Amino acid sequence: MDPFLNSEPLSKSADHNHQLYIETVGCQMNMLDSELVVGAMRGGNYELTDDIGAADTILFNTCSVREHAEHKIYSQLGRIKYSKRTRPNLVIGVMGCMAQKDQEIIFERAPHVDIVVGTGQLAEIPRLIDETRENRQRQMAVSLGRRDGSRTQVAGSFESYDPLRDPEMRPSPYQAFVRIMIGCDKFCTYCVVPMTRGPEQSRSPSQITSEVRTLAGQGVKEVTLLGQTVNSYRHIEDGKEYRLADLLELIHDTDGIERIKFVTNYPKDMTLDLLQAVRDLPKVSRYLHVPAQSGCDEVLARMKRGYTVSDYREMMQRIHETVPDAAVSSDFIVGFCGETEESFELSMNLIREFRFKNSFIFKYSERPGTKADGLWPDDIPDDVKRRRNNEMLALQNEVSEEDNAEFIGREVEVLVEGLSKASEKRLAANPEAEDCHGDDASHKTQLVGRTDCDRIVVFDGNPRLAGSLTHIAVHDCSATTLLGSIVTRQLNHGLQVDLPVVS
Ligand code: SAH
Ligand code: SF4
Ligand code: F3S
Repeated sequence: MDPFLNSEPLSKSADHNHQLYIETVGCQMNMLDSELVVGAMRGGNYELTDDIGAADTILFNTCSVREHAEHKIYSQLGRIKYSKRTRPNLVIGVMGCMAQKDQEIIFERAPHVDIVVGTGQLAEIPRLIDETRENRQRQMAVSLGRRDGSRTQVAGSFESYDPLRDPEMRPSPYQAFVRIMIGCDKFCTYCVVPMTRGPEQSRSPSQITSEVRTLAGQGVKEVTLLGQTVNSYRHIEDGKEYRLADLLELIHDTDGIERIKFVTNYPKDMTLDLLQAVRDLPKVSRYLHVPAQSGCDEVLARMKRGYTVSDYREMMQRIHETVPDAAVSSDFIVGFCGETEESFELSMNLIREFRFKNSFIFKYSERPGTKADGLWPDDIPDDVKRRRNNEMLALQNEVSEEDNAEFIGREVEVLVEGLSKASEKRLAANPEAEDCHGDDASHKTQLVGRTDCDRIVVFDGNPRLAGSLTHIAVHDCSATTLLGSIVTRQLNHGLQVDLPVVS
């Protein structure tokens, strides 16, 4: 079976437009899935609404990585428990990771749900919705469990879903996610993803490059390649093995694409050839997200991460030697089973030693069905987890702010993404206020962009700059953001005076 099927089109028979409300939690993979499902639905007679009360179709795209993410969805479902009383035509669907993990349990906990669709059956959603509206019968489409068949059978039951997409559905017209792999075979003991996303499978380089070309033709400037362990990418096509470094080289030639990013990396697969590709290909962002998870060898072994702190240190040396100006970010889990104060301090030391650009920090959440759940008690009390989380956040913020301060007085090149959050809020509150940009480039609208190494920069400028590469002089910072202003070139007797550009 071709694991990379396109979606089935929706029937266009109805004489009115359906209203679709969709809510998405979880990682970038989920954001992309929602984008693609909405694209397919809009190809039928659906339009998006952000008013859940006005929708005749409600979809929740769910995440199971921590219990909190699941609670959020179940409580949202609770809020619409009685909505079919006034909207008998309403179809409620739960899709994504929690749908794959909980399956029947969702119908038991929320009997008003009509369809449950796993991560490998997204292509079926339009048909399932049509059928449910027609016959009012519950439907469930999910993949096999990891032990319910041979690897090939299980892999075949998870289909990567990458149809042609609706350009209007991207978060910004200039940026797009491109899936290069699905699934994960690493089986870290705390993690549910190998169950919810199935076996690791890489898409073919020809499919990926053609998708990137299509996106570039639609005006996309920046692509972010997605995989749970994106640097484990491996695909054999026409007898040749392609790794991520090869793929980056292929994509690099695409006209119109200015930047290429990739997330998330697995420390053990951060090979020299990949780092050399990052160094040699100017469009590849010098930003590497390589989660360490812990700075204690005993904890790393219990997590089954497959490396020690000294392996991670070697990898960091390789990164700094090959791409000296790369920014590295990490994820940490605090309060994993048996994490002592000493183990926690070792994780803090890792942040002090490697000065990550930023870190995503999570309190350990016990996940049913994972190895850790079967092997060890979740023995760190929640108040201890919370304290460790706060201490680590404070340390990381200190490091991030100090590093950002190094940029003050320097000039950076950013890809402008659009209005900053503050401007968006202002615009939402008063739509007319920002509606008069005209040709005045000095208009005080706050924009946001990112440097080559993924630092967020805000500055005043004309919204028409969105999608362009612009030089910004940095004059202030916080832990998360650089603040600056657009550099206006001065011409002195034909001599252009430039500041040195850093990333
Ligand atoms: N594939 C990526 C991350 C997937 S999940 C990788 O391997 O890096 C994103 C992050 O959630 C992980 O990096 C980890 O830090 C965190 N996470 C995963 N399972 C968790 C759990 N049970 N409790 C708390 N955090 C968890
Ligand atoms: Fe989960 Fe580990 Fe796979 Fe990441 S590498 S998705 S943390 S099992
Ligand atoms: Fe969550 Fe699934 Fe992503 S569990 S983190 S949405 S792969």
